[in-house]
Amino acid sequence: MKIERAADLGFCFGVRRALGILEDAARQKGGVETLGALVHNRQVMARLNGLGVRTVNDVSEITGKTVVVSSHGVGPRVLQDIRERGIEIVDTTCPFVQRAQTAARRLSEAGFFTVIYGDVNHPEVRGILGWAEGHGIATLSAGDLDSIELPRHIGLLSQTTQVPARFIDFAKRVTETAMVKDAELRLVDTVCHDIRKRQAAALELAGRADLMLVIGGHHSANTRHLVDLCAAKTETHLVETEAEIDPSWLKGKNLVGVTAGASTAPETIDSVVRRLEDLAG
Ligand code: F3S
Repeated sequence: MKIERAADLGFCFGVRRALGILEDAARQKGGVETLGALVHNRQVMARLNGLGVRTVNDVSEITGKTVVVSSHGVGPRVLQDIRERGIEIVDTTCPFVQRAQTAARRLSEAGFFTVIYGDVNHPEVRGILGWAEGHGIATLSAGDLDSIELPRHIGLLSQTTQVPARFIDFAKRVTETAMVKDAELRLVDTVCHDIRKRQAAALELAGRADLMLVIGGHHSANTRHLVDLCAAKTETHLVETEAEIDPSWLKGKNLVGVTAGASTAPETIDSVVRRLEDLAG
C-alpha cells in the first residue's frame, strides 16, 4: 500500500501568519485573549491554551487590556466597540479576508446590495456582512434570494473558503434573477488562492487514490469542502487525529491519499501518516 500526501495541504498562509502573531503576543504578555477561536482545530487550540491563550466569544467577556482578532476578522462595529472599551487590538485578520471586507465596504459605499455566497453562521461571513453596513445578506442557496426583493444594484462576493465552481453556479443563478430586474451586477472574486491550490491538489490526488483521508476539524468549513470534493472521486473519510483511523478502510487499497484542512497542524498530519505506515506494515 502506498501513501501519498497532496501537493498542497495543511496550514494556509493566513493561519500560519495569525499563529505567528498570536504566539508572539502571548509570550510577550504572558497570555492573551482571542475573540472567537483563532482556528477551528482542537489540536491547535489545545497547544495555544498551553501558551496562556484563552478564547472569548463576545467583546463583553474580554477581561484583559489586549484582545486578538482571529484570522476570520470582525466587522467595523465590533472593532469600534473594543476600542471604546480602551482595549488594545492585535489584528490577525487574513489579508485575503480583508480583501473581501474591503470589497463589501466599497460596494456598500457605491450603493450596491451585497450578496455573499457563504455560511451566515461563520464568523468570517458575519464580519464581511458587517463591512457591508447592513446592505447585504449571506446564503449558500440562491433559492433563498427568490423570497427577498433584490435591489437593482447587486454586488456578489464569496466566503474565502468556498469551492470556486459552486460560487460560479451561485453567481449564474443570481445573474438570471438580476437580468429579469434589469439590474447592474458587480462580482468580486474573493475565493482565497491558498484554498484553490489545496482543493486542486486534493482533487488531483483523489482522482488517482483508492482512498482519501482528509485531516481536520469536524467544524472546519474548508475541511468539509475538501471532504465533499474528494468524496465525489473516491472513498473518503474525515479524521481529526490518527486515533480515528479505522484499519478496515485500508483493506485492498493500493494508493491512500492524504490531505488536510487549512487549520491542521503539520504534527497532526505527520501522526496520521505514521499511523497509516504502521498499519500498512
Ligand atoms: Fe486566509 Fe485563505 Fe487561510 S483566506 S486564513 S489564507 S484559507
